[in-house]
Amino acid sequence: VESPSNPLAELVDIAALAEIAHAKGAMLVVDNCFCTPALQQPLKLGADIVVHSATKFIDGQGRCMGGVVAGRSEQMKEVVGFLRTAGPTLSPFNAWIFLKGLETLNLRMRAHCASAQALAEWLEQQDGIEKVHYAGLKSHPQHALAQRQQRGFGAVVSFEVRGGKEGAWRFIDATRLISITANLGDSKTTITHPSTTSHGRLAPQERAAAGIHDSLIRIAVGLEDVTDLQADLARGLAAL
Ligand SMILES: Cc1ncc(COP(=O)(O)O)c(C=O)c1O
Repeated sequence: VESPSNPLAELVDIAALAEIAHAKGAMLVVDNCFCTPALQQPLKLGADIVVHSATKFIDGQGRCMGGVVAGRSEQMKEVVGFLRTAGPTLSPFNAWIFLKGLETLNLRMRAHCASAQALAEWLEQQDGIEKVHYAGLKSHPQHALAQRQQRGFGAVVSFEVRGGKEGAWRFIDATRLISITANLGDSKTTITHPSTTSHGRLAPQERAAAGIHDSLIRIAVGLEDVTDLQADLARGLAAL
């Protein structure tokens, strides 16, 4: 499971799901990419394996691609055996970048969370914004669960704008500081239109079932000054 999920920040109760999985003899694997270990530690909640795209917040500056699989040594022996045989080995340079990234991870995640919270609260008040998806908002249906199982609500904020796909595209194209890219977890804030990028290969009815509407925009809030980001999003709002 992915919790919080991309792009709608939907959560699962990891401890409850671990119990259900274990009662049936299954393992629970959690993609912890959005929270990182700084904000959520699924192994402590009962998960068996945690995976990360280290390309995102663990690097933190969009420089290297890599991944992490973490779990108890018995299970990791099998993973290491597979990696050794199949060959997807991290280069020493990428490994060094990720290790340096870990040194600032906690500080960075706190800054990402503070700016994301401020922008989510501000967006929720703006004319032209129909809905904001961010677990740090009291309006999020799983706000209480997020408070219980996470130490922060993360950097990713999604919102629906007036005007459907055209409105969303006008909004995105009007931004100047924010980078139009599907990546996330960078010090630079990124903006993307999930229904035509990351989720563009789904059939329209599958997208609708997943709640990925054409009016949806996702931002992954970076480390810039939050007033500059707000001014850039205001450019998007003015273009709706
Ligand atoms: C939650 C989550 N997990 C995994 C990935 C995949 O990352 P990678 O392409 O580095 O494997 C992404 C990419 O956006 C993601 O958002």
